[in-house]
Amino acid sequence: MVFHPHRRHALRPWLRWSLHALLLALVVTGGLWLSIHFLAWPALARPEMEGLPSPWEAPLMKLHGAAMLAMVFLVGRLSGTHVLLGWRLRKRVGDGVALLALIAALALSGYALYYWVPEGWRDALGLAHGAAGVLMALVFVFHRRR
Ligand code: HEM
Ligand code: HEM
Repeated sequence: MVFHPHRRHALRPWLRWSLHALLLALVVTGGLWLSIHFLAWPALARPEMEGLPSPWEAPLMKLHGAAMLAMVFLVGRLSGTHVLLGWRLRKRVGDGVALLALIAALALSGYALYYWVPEGWRDALGLAHGAAGVLMALVFVFHRRR
């Protein structure tokens, strides 16, 4: 295939759809986790579980982790084609780089949340990660404008 910078640069439909579906899954599982964890939904609480994390948190994070792995894989899939081509065309570079930087920050903070964050920092880092996630979704919506 000739790698010509003026070739139309739209994403293949399967890739565009996968990115949207995964982003939605990340925002929904992350957002539900946040609201359950910090608002401690009374409807989900069982008396014998007083003070323990909600039983919904672990399954939500299992889904979140699966979506996050697929998302990181697809971002890799994009980097040699979509990113390079947009870079050469000098189009949407600002918000494209912001998107990549936010995804990198999410991967690093997510890794820290999973493997080594000190207990006292957990809530703050979790909230910061969630805020970066919402911001990333907003930049994504802006970036994909017509
Ligand atoms: C430096 C990095 C990037 C640059 C320069 C860039 C550039 C562009 C440009 C020029 C367009 C509009 C042209 C078109 O419709 O094909 C576009 C659209 C789009 N970009 Fe990027 N991009 C970057 C990173 C990313 C990343 C990391 C993602 C996903 C996580 C992404 C997802 C999209 C989507 C979904 C569209 C809408 C186009 C479609 O649906 O076909 N881009 N990008
Ligand atoms: C590519 C993007 C993302 C990556 C790589 C990522 C990665 C991770 C990882 C590895 C965890 C730790 C899992 C665990 O503790 O069991 C996590 C937790 C979490 N993520 Fe994400 N995530 C991403 C996007 C998002 C988005 C868009 C949101 C939106 C709200 C979000 C919200 C959360 C929340 C609330 C948690 C739980 C925080 C905690 O344990 O204190 N994430 N994420």
